[in-house]
Formats: sequence, C-alpha cells, structure tokens
Amino acid sequence: MIRLAARPSRFEFKFAVWMLGVCAGICAVAQTSQLAATPPMGWNSWNHFAGKVTDADVRAAADAMVSSGMRDAGYVYVNVDDTWQGERDAQGRIHANSRFPDMKGLADYVHAKGLKFGIYSSPGPKTCAGFEGSYGHEEQDAQTYAEWGVDFLKYDLCGLRTIMGIYEPEPDWKKASAIQREAYVKMHKALLKAGRPVVYSICQYGSDSVWEWAAEAGGNLWRTTDDISDSFRSMALIGFSQTGLERFAGPGHWNDPDMLEIGNGGMNADEYRTQMSLWAILAAPLLAGNDLSKMDDTTQSILMNREVIAVDQDKLGAQGTRVGPLQVWMKPLEDGSKAVALFNFVTDDVPQPITLRFKDIGFAGSVRARDLWAHKDMGVLRDSYTVTPPKGGVVMLRIMGIAAER
Ligand code: GLA
Repeated sequence: MIRLAARPSRFEFKFAVWMLGVCAGICAVAQTSQLAATPPMGWNSWNHFAGKVTDADVRAAADAMVSSGMRDAGYVYVNVDDTWQGERDAQGRIHANSRFPDMKGLADYVHAKGLKFGIYSSPGPKTCAGFEGSYGHEEQDAQTYAEWGVDFLKYDLCGLRTIMGIYEPEPDWKKASAIQREAYVKMHKALLKAGRPVVYSICQYGSDSVWEWAAEAGGNLWRTTDDISDSFRSMALIGFSQTGLERFAGPGHWNDPDMLEIGNGGMNADEYRTQMSLWAILAAPLLAGNDLSKMDDTTQSILMNREVIAVDQDKLGAQGTRVGPLQVWMKPLEDGSKAVALFNFVTDDVPQPITLRFKDIGFAGSVRARDLWAHKDMGVLRDSYTVTPPKGGVVMLRIMGIAAER
C-alpha cells in the first residue's frame, strides 16, 4: 500500500488521480451491471397502442400490472414508447404532448404502485414516428428524465440515420458506424451524469453487429432484429434466428429479440406459449405488449407462468440455444438443471414427434423432469423422451441429472 505523506509527492498525486479514474470506470460498469442483473420484465405501449397511447392507458397498464398479479410475478417496468413527445421550449427543454399532461405525475403514479417508469427517445433529431428526438439535447433530456423519475430509456436509432449518411448515394459505412456508436455512448454518459440509475435499451434493429459493441456503449439490452408483429411467422422468424448470439448475453447486458405479442390476438394460445417459452430460453427481456387492462385467463396464464419466468430470470444469466437439427432449445440454469423447449415449428402439416436424448444435453443416464406448462413432475426418465408438441406449440421441461441431485 502506498502511504501518502503529509504533502503528497507528484507520483502519489498522479497515482491518486489515476485510482479515482479507475474507480469511476468500475463504478460506471458496476452501476450498469447491477441494473438488469436479470432480463428486464415489464410492459411497453407500442405493440398494442402504437401512436395513440395516452396517460390514461399507461395508468391503466400500471393498475392492471398490480391487480392481475403480474407485478408479483416479476413484471416491473411500465414503458411509454414513441409519440409522447411535444415541443421543446425556448430553453430547449422537452415537454410531453397533450396526451401526456403531466409526465412527472405519471411517473409518480407508476412508482407509487411499486413499479418503475420507462420512456423512449431517439439519438436523431426525430423519432421513428416523426416526434422530437434527443439529438443535440442529450444531457438536457437525461436531466429532464431524471427529474421526472425515469428508470428505463429505449433509445431508438431512426432519425440519426440521415446524419449517419446512410441515404447518401455512396455511404461511408465506417463513418456511419462511428457516428452511431458515439451517439449511443453520448446518451449513456448523459444518463450517468444525470445520476439516476436508468436501464438503457439500445434499439437499432440488430444492424452493425450491435451485440459486439452495445454493452461497451452502456446498453443493458439491445434489439437484435427488426420489429416484431403479431403473427406466428414474424415471431418465429425472429425467435428461432437467435442462435449464435448467446455468448453476448449475461447479467446486465441482454440480447433483445423485441417485445411480447402475447394477448394481442394474432396468434393462438399454443403459438403464444411458443413465444413465452422461446423468449425464456433466450433469456430475453419480457416486455408484455398487450392491453393489460383487458386480459383473458389464457393470456394471464401464459404471461404469468412462474416456472417459465423462472427460466428466463435464472440468476446464471445464460442465454440458451438450439441443440439439435430440430427446434430443440436448451438453457443451462444456476442449480445445474437445464430448461429444454421442444417446439413444433411446422404449422401447415401434421405435428411430428420429437425425441430428446438426455446425453445430447449433457446428462448421462436417467434424469428427473418437470413439465413447465402442465405444472407436473414427470418422475424419473431414462435415456430419452419423445413427445409431439401441438401444432405451432411447445413442450417445455426442466431437467435435472439424477447424479447432480445428490
Ligand atoms: C421502431 C422500433 C419499435 C417502436 C417504433 C416506434 O420501429 O423498433 O419498437 O419503438 O419505432 O416508432
């Protein structure tokens, strides 16, 4: 240990300054990884309300999150997506539009229910829906969000693309990429400076190998694909294409295959179970995108399957992946067990049986299994298990090696 004399030498002074710098770096990283230690869970307005969302819709979502039991099942963030923004005033401060008369009041309302409040902006001058972005106002906006009590920011590329020059006849891709990364880092620094912990959600549709740099830019989650829509085709194309990204995910930094569509009406219950199961295997953020104030029992049972949620939220934070030529996906869990989902990806044909050989997921001999949708222990299984998942649907198991149990 270096002892500082009454009057520090030049070396000691420099060393102390260097230590402060190191600490600042570590503290920033620590803050980021403490946030979103497991994939963020909550609700976002976009998939159902899109550009028509109002203050009343968001309050109703917060109410329903509590009364339905979703909050107790782990859903926390209540996030307003695009189209809340109004004009900037003479000082450049952003104000919400008339559909959101009191942003701080709304955040207070959400917080009073034991929930957290999220908001949306763009690094560009305009958002995807053409509303005011944060370009040139990053610190000021971060400060405003902190004053309102914002806990989550989705920062959506759209308007920056013009500034990146990607619509030029011959774009300079290297430059475009640098502008983009700088813009994401800039807002992260602004959020840190504003001093309120904010989960930082990077949304640029999975371009430019975002998974390779997003965590370093301060992202707690980053979209890996283009927008999801409420159809089996869209959901399956996105979900089943996530293989290979698992090494980029972990506590504090997650791949985000976009929000849930469960309960929006475009898929049947088996297909929505597929989305819930696949997103859990992927350790994906679970942001419901339906109207929470009008949920039927089936929607509630899917969104609040605590055994599937436990797979998503497992502390190990490993993202699962496909383990065979068929749609068999596996996620290792903290207690040594493994979550396995067997999907019937074929929707226009007779469902086929799928066989899982336990040795293919690292278990020799017999295992104990539990069915996470039937909520039933299946007892001891030997060598393999064969099942025919329903059309477009899934069978999801939690499997424990018998030797590992002792
Ligand atoms: C983009 C995003 C969507 C949504 C809309 C809002 O398309 O990917 O998730 O936020 O913008 O305009």
